[in-house]
Amino acid sequence: MIKSIVFTCAVLLCCSLSHADDELLEKIMKEGFKGKTSPMAKVVKSEATPAETKTLTDLVHSMKGTKAPIGDQADYDKRVSTLIASLDAVAKGDHSEKALGALKKASDCKSCHSEHRPKH
Ligand code: HEC
Repeated sequence: MIKSIVFTCAVLLCCSLSHADDELLEKIMKEGFKGKTSPMAKVVKSEATPAETKTLTDLVHSMKGTKAPIGDQADYDKRVSTLIASLDAVAKGDHSEKALGALKKASDCKSCHSEHRPKH
């Protein structure tokens, strides 16, 4: 009996934690990535204002340590850290083709979604 109560609590705690990451990721996607005029769309075209760049950097940095909604966690972590590194380079002022190309690749929507975005 006690065992099953402890188990239920553990399951609830676990689910509410991963749910929190889902909400955070949805917020990051909506505010940072979604649409042709999103901060990400502008940053890859070198059209973002410093404020938009900062918003995006903050959002993307907060992806670090989140749990992959689905798929291999190690693959997800690698994608997130590559994304952070390539965004930081551009945010620090490197607008070379190489830096922007690396960011474009790291922010590729389909490539990450096909592995880690839950299908509803
Ligand atoms: C490094 C991984 C990654 C990249 C790159 C990425 N996404 Fe996502 N995206 C996710 C994950 C994970 C979710 C699922 C979040 C959830 O529901 O838990 C998601 C969900 C979304 C959603 C749905 C949010 C909602 O309200 O449920 C939108 C819209 C979205 N992404 C847009 C984009 C666009 C546009 C790009 C490219 C410019 C992009 N994403 C690039 C990981 C990524």
